[in-house]
Amino acid sequence: KYLDLILLLVIVRTKVGKTSLIMSLVSEEFPDEVPLRAEEITIPADVTPERVPTHIVDYSEAEQSEEQLYQEISKANVICIVYSVNNKKSIEKVTSHWIPLINDRTDKDSRVPLILVGNKSDLVEHSSMETILPIMNQYQDIETCVECSAKNLKNISELFYYAQKAVLHPTGPLYCPEEKE
Ligand code: GTP
Ligand code: MG
Repeated sequence: KYLDLILLLVIVRTKVGKTSLIMSLVSEEFPDEVPLRAEEITIPADVTPERVPTHIVDYSEAEQSEEQLYQEISKANVICIVYSVNNKKSIEKVTSHWIPLINDRTDKDSRVPLILVGNKSDLVEHSSMETILPIMNQYQDIETCVECSAKNLKNISELFYYAQKAVLHPTGPLYCPEEKE
């Protein structure tokens, strides 16, 4: 049914750990040093939870233009908005900047599901959920949220599973998979 699934990671701010997340997922260990932007990779179907080949696309504000970002947004089947749980400003930017920008760039009838990803959970004692839940209630396009850590590999494979699930078995009322084909 789906040939491929494209998962795009966007920033909220630089240095929240997008590239590290991708590298941790792929190599199952935390990389000490990462490039600004990970090369686009395709995870073969048989090693993904939902058995669908999945492209993972990184975004780097430093290396890419806005136009390139808009192109990636229009191709994506699911977008992970990555913030850092130890950085309040990065959470604010989710609603002040990223969700409106993505909505502006996608069709009203075929909006992509969004996943809020709070990275660096190893650095804090308290969860960011109290701040995140009202945002989830406000925007129906947000399919789910997850706190993870690229560093200690917590919830990394779960994040990947949620992203696939958001496309293949969406629960949100706005998203209709038939129209996307
Ligand atoms: P830009 O590409 O510049 O926007 O940054 P990015 O979002 O890709 O972040 P990157 O992966 O380059 O990580 C930024 C810094 O955060 C690096 O020093 C990483 O080692 C660190 N980092 C990434 N993930 C984690 C994490 O889960 N925990 C901790 N403690 N540090 C992390
Ligand atoms: Mg990066």
